[in-house]
Amino acid sequence: MESELLERIKLDGRIPSHVAVIMDGNGRWARERGLPRYAGHRRGMVAVRDVVEGAVEAGIEVLTLFAFSKENWQRPRPEIAALMALLKRYADSERQELKAQGVAVHVLGELDRLRAGPRAAVERIVGETAAGKTMRLNLMISYSGRDEIVRAVRELARRARRGELDPDEIDESLFGSVLYTAGLPDPDLLIRTSGELRISNFMLWQLAYTELYISSVYWPDFTREHLFAAISDYQRRERRFGRVTAG
Ligand code: IPE
Ligand code: IPE
Ligand code: MG
Repeated sequence: MESELLERIKLDGRIPSHVAVIMDGNGRWARERGLPRYAGHRRGMVAVRDVVEGAVEAGIEVLTLFAFSKENWQRPRPEIAALMALLKRYADSERQELKAQGVAVHVLGELDRLRAGPRAAVERIVGETAAGKTMRLNLMISYSGRDEIVRAVRELARRARRGELDPDEIDESLFGSVLYTAGLPDPDLLIRTSGELRISNFMLWQLAYTELYISSVYWPDFTREHLFAAISDYQRRERRFGRVTAG
């Protein structure tokens, strides 16, 4: 049975095409239960499964999940190892199901920093789900917004040096085409869990006019119903993009 909230947001019809999520609060979720941080990350995987299904139900076209930042490499080695093991486990255990649901998984970030095991698992899920047409799922791994921008600048500079590009041709659209998110619409809605009021170096270019939604819920407790509540809130927003309200 469909949830009442899901029915309501579908009735409204203004489903955000692209939703991005900063999945935060795993450590605090675990600490409050006297558990190791790792236990919070493991439960976070359950939340990922539920939210991905909810996103498909709601009819979202692109769901982008911030799973591991470039800055997160500075965490203690055992925590990084646990997160990478979970990434591999997620990719291995969800591959068939995501494929069956028509979810095309993309993994965006500095993948060459991953060890062979998680990297192979990630490449496999990306390859095997590539034909999915229902929804695109971006997993942001070893990702940083500033790093993405610097890489894009380098790429354009290389093209200019080779004589393929006149610097005056560089505009927002060309710049967007050399980012990891090339070809995708900007996020309409950004959700951050655990109540933190910051962007933490996430999608700095793409979030220019994104609606922000901060949930106090820790990521391991976040469910599809919380996603629907965020969408319902989004539907009450008035997006102005710098213009004045009509009428
Ligand atoms: C989010 O939870 C997961 C990652 C950043 C990988 P945290 O691990 O940041 O949890 P808190 O913020 O310490 O509670
Ligand atoms: C942002 O969360 C990164 C991810 C959710 C993957 P962090 O927990 O790393 O961010 P800060 O340190 O609180 O800004
Ligand atoms: Mg955190």
